[in-house]
Amino acid sequence: MSSPRRRLAPAQGRPDTDGPVMASCEVLARRREGPYWTLSFAAKEIAERARPGQFVQIAVQAPHTLLRRPFSIAGVSRQGVAAGTVDVVFDAHGPGTEWLAGVDAHDVIDVIGPLGTPFPLPQRKVNCLLIGGGYGTAPLFYLGEKLVAKGLRVDMIVGAASGDRILGTIDAKRLSATVAFTTDDGSYGTRGRVTDVLEDVVASTGAGVVYACGPNPMLRAVSEICRDIEVPVQVSVEEKMACGIGVCFTCVLPIRGRDGHVRMQRSCLEGPVFNGARIAWDETRVHVGAPIVDEEDEPAAPPARPTDAELWGDA
Ligand SMILES: Cc1cc2nc3c(=O)[nH]c(=O)nc-3n(C[C@H](O)[C@H](O)[C@H](O)COP(=O)(O)OP(=O)(O)OC[C@H]3O[C@@H](n4cnc5c(N)ncnc54)[C@H](O)[C@@H]3O)c2cc1C
Ligand code: FES
Repeated sequence: MSSPRRRLAPAQGRPDTDGPVMASCEVLARRREGPYWTLSFAAKEIAERARPGQFVQIAVQAPHTLLRRPFSIAGVSRQGVAAGTVDVVFDAHGPGTEWLAGVDAHDVIDVIGPLGTPFPLPQRKVNCLLIGGGYGTAPLFYLGEKLVAKGLRVDMIVGAASGDRILGTIDAKRLSATVAFTTDDGSYGTRGRVTDVLEDVVASTGAGVVYACGPNPMLRAVSEICRDIEVPVQVSVEEKMACGIGVCFTCVLPIRGRDGHVRMQRSCLEGPVFNGARIAWDETRVHVGAPIVDEEDEPAAPPARPTDAELWGDA
């Protein structure tokens, strides 16, 4: 089970039971979830300290992979036979994640966590809309369980590029009162992006708060709509991270404070969960993608302008 552990120094004013630990963790299982992988490992202290929205940094041993790789905590078990287990879900697309997809049960991995800020939970009764894109849906199941346990209504919008990349179809239906699925190519659910159905879902579910996790362009689009329709929004951003513990400042984002001033904040320490309406998206390099348009919905091409010769003749 999870063996040698080292406590990292707790932040000032923080109890020692709250901060991250560094642990050598035995891998318990690695499972395929469509195109994604789920890795479960024994990490009792991380499981006890973790809250939805936080992440772990895993050391990978592929060539030229000096930096740890950050992964959202997709779930923890604190009770029963699986007590002390942490799950992450990932997409294997580069050297670090390919290496992780190759670890086997009983291998030992080096993990630091839980890191970063959790999703704040509502302090009053409010309907909650959870919006996930691709593997970004994974930590929302963990969050959704907490919200449901608090007696709150949860609805979901789950999106991906195509149907096979939608994560946790059954879990989403089991967890939430309603689920809207969207895919860019229309192979599952509504053709389009999560933002194409967002306003309708907010209206039909009476959502009073939105939580989102997925690619940054999706988070920008969700945040801007929520700001415009005045629904509070919390997003878990995915910035490039080198150290993951607040030292290197590679992960900074411009955040507008209550005083209106924009200050750079570290996604690994002050985030990754931020109030989406307070991120100064215009000052980032994050751009909302072009809308997806059905061919039959495309506006007819304007009539071709006549050439000078057609209009005026040869004169
Ligand atoms: C807070 C947080 C939570 C995340 N949660 C998940 C998750 O649950 N599942 C999942 O599949 N992925 C997640 N990611 C993205 C994941 O960390 C990257 O996919 C992974 O680091 C890529 O490593 P690689 O070596 O396979 O690929 P490469 O792209 O070759 O990585 C090369 C370098 O770039 C950095 N890097 C590349 N892409 C990212 C990225 N998107 N974010 C941060 N650093 C990056 C790596 O750390 C590494 O230093 C998360 C990222 C952050 C910041
Ligand atoms: S990754 Fe180094 S400060 Fe955030």
